[in-house]
Amino acid sequence: MTVTRDDCLAFDAKDPLAAVAAEFEVPKDGTIYLDANSVGAMPRSAPERLTRLLLDGWHGLRRRGWSESDWLSAPRRLGDKVAPVIGAEPGSVVICDTTSVNLYKLLIGALRLRPDRRTIVSERANFPSDLYVMQGANAVLDNRYRLKLVEDGKSVAEAVDDDTAVLALSTVDFRSSFRHDIAAMTRRAHECGALALWDLSHAAGAVPTNVADNRVDLAVGCGYKYLCGGPGAPAYLYVAPALQDDIQPVLTGWMGHAATFEFDIEYRPAPGIDRQLCGTPSVIASAAMEAALDVWAKLDVARAFAKHRALSELVVTLVDQGLAGPEVGIGSPSDPDSRGGFVALRHAGGAAVVAALGEAGVVASFRPPDSVRFGLSPLYHRYIDVYDAVERLGGVLQSGVWKEARYSREKAI
Ligand SMILES: Cc1ncc(COP(=O)(O)O)c(C=O)c1O
Repeated sequence: MTVTRDDCLAFDAKDPLAAVAAEFEVPKDGTIYLDANSVGAMPRSAPERLTRLLLDGWHGLRRRGWSESDWLSAPRRLGDKVAPVIGAEPGSVVICDTTSVNLYKLLIGALRLRPDRRTIVSERANFPSDLYVMQGANAVLDNRYRLKLVEDGKSVAEAVDDDTAVLALSTVDFRSSFRHDIAAMTRRAHECGALALWDLSHAAGAVPTNVADNRVDLAVGCGYKYLCGGPGAPAYLYVAPALQDDIQPVLTGWMGHAATFEFDIEYRPAPGIDRQLCGTPSVIASAAMEAALDVWAKLDVARAFAKHRALSELVVTLVDQGLAGPEVGIGSPSDPDSRGGFVALRHAGGAAVVAALGEAGVVASFRPPDSVRFGLSPLYHRYIDVYDAVERLGGVLQSGVWKEARYSREKAI
């Protein structure tokens, strides 16, 4: 049965999350931003919160803000608001630093918990920054480790063995949106006595990650994508409660000290998750991020994941029924349980198509060689947005406008 534009309007009319979209700024010019995998939308309350922080906090309180406002508690307070979105226990998440820095901290901390082992298992298709971090962490440890990079994500399980200290994976492939089975891969790591460290960036806020139920040891992820924390938002970091007091902090700064304001000259790690903090929290960025996390706090996250699934299935259905034309295929797995936050469409014209599509009012992203990514948010995307985006893609391809020379110079960002 063919899905029509009217069907999509009807889906929106019945959508239990439809009202949540009103919590976000809507583009006035009708542009459809399918870049939830990159920079999520701005919550409507963010400008007012930031203005209040700048005027009352920065201008009004200055240094007194640390004691009279709640600036110092931001990493934990916001971490506890991220926790339900990734299925974590309260007190097991902090927001701080960047995903790359947090990966570095937790990877080295994890390697030290398995001192007799010499292998880190990951995959070639992992996000390059994660691979660079692994190489840098290994260099700091005198290249004692073998970085075993699996060619095909589906064969990760076989690569883990008794020498594996850490299985370090991104949950979702940043090109194809292939999603690992977190539970199965974590179980496999544990069977071999290894620790499982996940980068949840392209999953959290779109699909379930259930880190506590899946017995994940360690996790990191970006705050600016599906969580909608704003450009350059702080990242989050998860440590399972059972490991928190065993794992030694790697970047030992004052915010992770057991008694920060006693100004001891000896470092003593704080108990629990707080030892993973290093320096001063990013107060302005945290205020923007909290605007989004307060929207998340009002939601039933299971409902959000169900909506995301329906939106991503809609992309697949519409492409399959030919709305984008015959040249477009689906580059993501067909099983929604094996897909992450975006759906990858395949077109040989990739970057140029994305550029031309941008001028047609749909913001998507390109990753080589041929992946056109539609990043979907359950918070603010409507079914009609998906329909119109796929239809506009069809228009761009049918007109051939994307072949104009000006689009071929576009670089992927
Ligand atoms: C999967 C993944 N990991 C890590 C990063 C890098 O994050 P950061 O720049 O916060 O270190 C990104 C950025 O897009 C990403 O997609």
